[in-house]
Amino acid sequence: MTTYITTPIYYVNAQPHLGHAYSTIVADTYARYKRLCGEDVRFQTGTDEHGDKIAEAAGKEGVQPREYADNISAMFKQSWQRLNISNDYFIRSTDDDHVAVVQKILQDVYDKGDIYFDEYSGLYCTGCERFLTDKELVDGKCPDHQVAPKEITEQNYFFRMSRYQQQLIDHIHNNPEFITPERYRNEVLSFLGEPLEDLCISRPTSRLTWGITLPFDKNFVTYVWFDALINYLTGIGYPDGPNFQKYWSVAEHLIAKDILKPHAIYWPTMIMAMGLEPYKKLHVHGFWNVNETKMSKSIGNVVRPQTLVDTYGRDGMRYFLLREMSFGLDASFSDEAIVARMNSDLANDLGNLFSRSLSMIIKYRDGKVNPAVKSSDENDRQLQKIAEDMLEKYQVCMEKFEFHKALQAVWELVAYANKYIVSNEPWALAKAAEKRERLDTVLYNLAETLRILTLVLRPVMPESAEKMAEVLQVTGAPCVSNLGSGGRWGALPAGGVIAESGQLFPRLEVAKKKEKANQPDKKKDTNREKESEAGYITFEEFKNVELRVAEVLTAERVKKSERLLQLEVMAHEKRTIVAGIAEYYQPDELIGKKILIVANMKPAKIMGIYSQGMLLAAKNKVGDKEQLAVTTVDGAVENGSRVA
Ligand code: MSP
Repeated sequence: MTTYITTPIYYVNAQPHLGHAYSTIVADTYARYKRLCGEDVRFQTGTDEHGDKIAEAAGKEGVQPREYADNISAMFKQSWQRLNISNDYFIRSTDDDHVAVVQKILQDVYDKGDIYFDEYSGLYCTGCERFLTDKELVDGKCPDHQVAPKEITEQNYFFRMSRYQQQLIDHIHNNPEFITPERYRNEVLSFLGEPLEDLCISRPTSRLTWGITLPFDKNFVTYVWFDALINYLTGIGYPDGPNFQKYWSVAEHLIAKDILKPHAIYWPTMIMAMGLEPYKKLHVHGFWNVNETKMSKSIGNVVRPQTLVDTYGRDGMRYFLLREMSFGLDASFSDEAIVARMNSDLANDLGNLFSRSLSMIIKYRDGKVNPAVKSSDENDRQLQKIAEDMLEKYQVCMEKFEFHKALQAVWELVAYANKYIVSNEPWALAKAAEKRERLDTVLYNLAETLRILTLVLRPVMPESAEKMAEVLQVTGAPCVSNLGSGGRWGALPAGGVIAESGQLFPRLEVAKKKEKANQPDKKKDTNREKESEAGYITFEEFKNVELRVAEVLTAERVKKSERLLQLEVMAHEKRTIVAGIAEYYQPDELIGKKILIVANMKPAKIMGIYSQGMLLAAKNKVGDKEQLAVTTVDGAVENGSRVA
């Protein structure tokens, strides 16, 4: 089986932002998923470099369009490398082979009689790089760019798009999955309900020279969309390269809703005029807003992929974007939303499951995964069933670009596996010699769950999945790199050894053992009940509280609060802690102190700030006056040291 997936080629009039990154990450995830299925995959992205927009942007910078395009195209390339994008090819619309293919296609379509010369008046939007119809305007303006289009009258070449209208309507009706999600298919069909106008495909060189010269008239350059869409053919060697034969019939394009019309109407009709079969699928996603507001340079809220990588790491960012957006609908980005998701899903749920399972295998079995003993335990059966159901649902959703649903299914398994630990109490099994086999079974089932998670998370979080595979000591093995051989329960070979793991997710320690700390097991043995009745806690319970040494790096008052200080502290990692100590300390007094924190306190939002832990302080009353002293440690203790 073969897959050919493309992103739009991005305009080089601005640097890459969150929206470009999202499309590219989606295509990358899909490409990686298909490789995981064992398919032969071709994944293409690139930059769109001709046209008014680019010429204008270069003019503003006082450089030649070519130099300008070289610069920004390199930035896109570099950004995708930083995001771990696994594209097989990066195309530039200024590449010589692309220019040649565009000219060949223009000549072919012209010779066929589908391109003619005429005079035209229309409303042109430079932002969209196309003429808009009256119907598309809102209050006389382009709804996407909020500017009134310019009235332009000129002689130009036209592509007989109208000739292919019925053929396109029939194709959409006969191929329900040609454009998905359905809302966009309906939008296109509704647009095609009106007579289609022919498409103006040239610009006179008197107005624009930065474009591909028409092969049949040197006084014109090609309209940028007629040039850009053809990249999907050039990149696979149209007309006679072997890749063209291999990949064209399976081409899937990924775009956002802003460029639906060029992809769903111009492009298929162009392809029909060339005498080719249309591409296989068009996947359309919604728009990312930022804090519920449209992302725009003028508002100054443009989010750059590099900032996200630096702040959250590439896997954290990838996970968030894929989990948060329901494919097809708009979504809103905010730092609060990504922090909340990373803490709850990655650090708490997944990180917790990994660290607890691995540390028990290391502690109770010296890291060795013994075989499971056949059991009729309902918990075991349920865990296996949830894993199997997940594998099925995951594949269905990934095929349909429903990444958020695929990840929801994965997290159902994570949640059940965490419960499985609590209900099986491996720590209690470890104490009883006759429960040896049961403990082996529980630990095997946990290791097997981690293996399946490693497999399915590979397309979404490639780096973390690789680290997980390293810890399970199965790097490169088919059971974590091929859905066919790995996508079934029991594929983890018993007898393997687990390696000590570092931190898989940055906040792993924050979330560790949270579940136990917050929800004591229902099945307490009688001794433990007695101990707690007497006001004691067990050593196990004490161990659930993770006390660590942290150095105060900065301290400042929280705005609008008399009680709160915001501290940046360094434990193993940097954390923010909001503490109610402003009445007792000046911020400066705290800087440099080595204090004690509860590192696995559930993160909480206090006055809009995420507090990642709690500091310890002693409080007492002298007369009417309350005193408070923050607990500090003496000597040269390393930041992050555990206190026990
Ligand atoms: N050059 C054309 C595409 C030609 S493809 C033959 C173009 N370029 S663009 O730089 O404007 O990129 C548009 C695409 O970037 C969208 O379709 C989408 O993939 C992505 N996004 C840009 N802003 C976005 C959001 N705010 N949210 C999500 N994706 C968006 O159009």
